[in-house]
Amino acid sequence: MSIQVKHLNQIYSQGTAFEQQALKDVNLEIEDGEFIGLIGHTGSGKSTLIQHLNGLIRATDGDILYNGVSIYSEGFKMKELRSKVGLVFQYPEHQLFEADVFSDVCYGPRNQGLSEEEVKERAKEALQAVGFPENFYTQSPFELSGGQKRRVAIAGVLAMRPEVLILDEPTAGLDPKGRDEILDLLKSLHDGKKLTIIIVSHSMEDMARYVGRIVVMNYGEKVFDGTPKEVFRHYRELEAMGLAAPQITYVVQELRARGVDIADDITTIEEARDAILALLAKEKL
Ligand SMILES: Nc1ncnc2c1ncn2[C@@H]1O[C@H](COP(=O)(O)OP(=O)(O)OP(=O)(O)O)[C@@H](O)[C@H]1O
Ligand SMILES: [Mg+2]
Repeated sequence: MSIQVKHLNQIYSQGTAFEQQALKDVNLEIEDGEFIGLIGHTGSGKSTLIQHLNGLIRATDGDILYNGVSIYSEGFKMKELRSKVGLVFQYPEHQLFEADVFSDVCYGPRNQGLSEEEVKERAKEALQAVGFPENFYTQSPFELSGGQKRRVAIAGVLAMRPEVLILDEPTAGLDPKGRDEILDLLKSLHDGKKLTIIIVSHSMEDMARYVGRIVVMNYGEKVFDGTPKEVFRHYRELEAMGLAAPQITYVVQELRARGVDIADDITTIEEARDAILALLAKEKL
């Protein structure tokens, strides 16, 4: 048990003409070591929800428990929560500001009040974890490629040694190679460092390939929550919400409609390839 969200409501600008209910009675349990994808149409409440998870926004109503303790309880150490639950914003590289890569990654742990020695050790560890070569440490972050900048920004959060890493659209604006590199990095942090990871994404293909669980938001409500296979089974309802299943799901459904005996819960190209090859081997296609 790591994070429990209970009957969470968020109303922005309450009592004004701009009142906006961004979250409606959201309930969610996140266990240690999960890799979760959060999807939903624009304005469905994804960014609002994740900012609640490390206490950046205070809920209008409801509760959030971190390891069984309400983060709204008196005396709760919010600063500690913010280092345990690391939040990487959208386009985090826009927040790089130090003269060199290494100083930028030192910023978070230094803010935690650690000794200078510890700060440097953590910065090194974090840069290593994101696969950043040492000869780049003294370089200005502004001279790096988009994907490299994003790695540095992620390292800045990792340097605080979080238990949970939450990333708001970590692949936005990257080319396909940069995207795969960031997702592979997150997978390695999940598998290797046993971090709990939550990513917001618009790519259903990435969701099907990487995460173990998908949470779907629609107009501030949690509407689906399950494995990619369970969630993408609802592809018609997802379409009605302005979302979709991975492209390959549609190919498989089309094959089924034409009488091909192929499983109806295929969500990745690799699975489809194996299933089609198996059918060809049995001469059933
Ligand atoms: N600071 C704010 N003040 C007022 N309303 C806000 C604020 N932030 C978000 N909202 C509103 O709350 C709702 C949810 O927004 P949120 O940013 O959480 O959605 P999202 O799912 O992250 O969208 P996107 O995919 O576009 O990033 C939207 O209607 C949005 O306009
Ligand atoms: Mg958002």
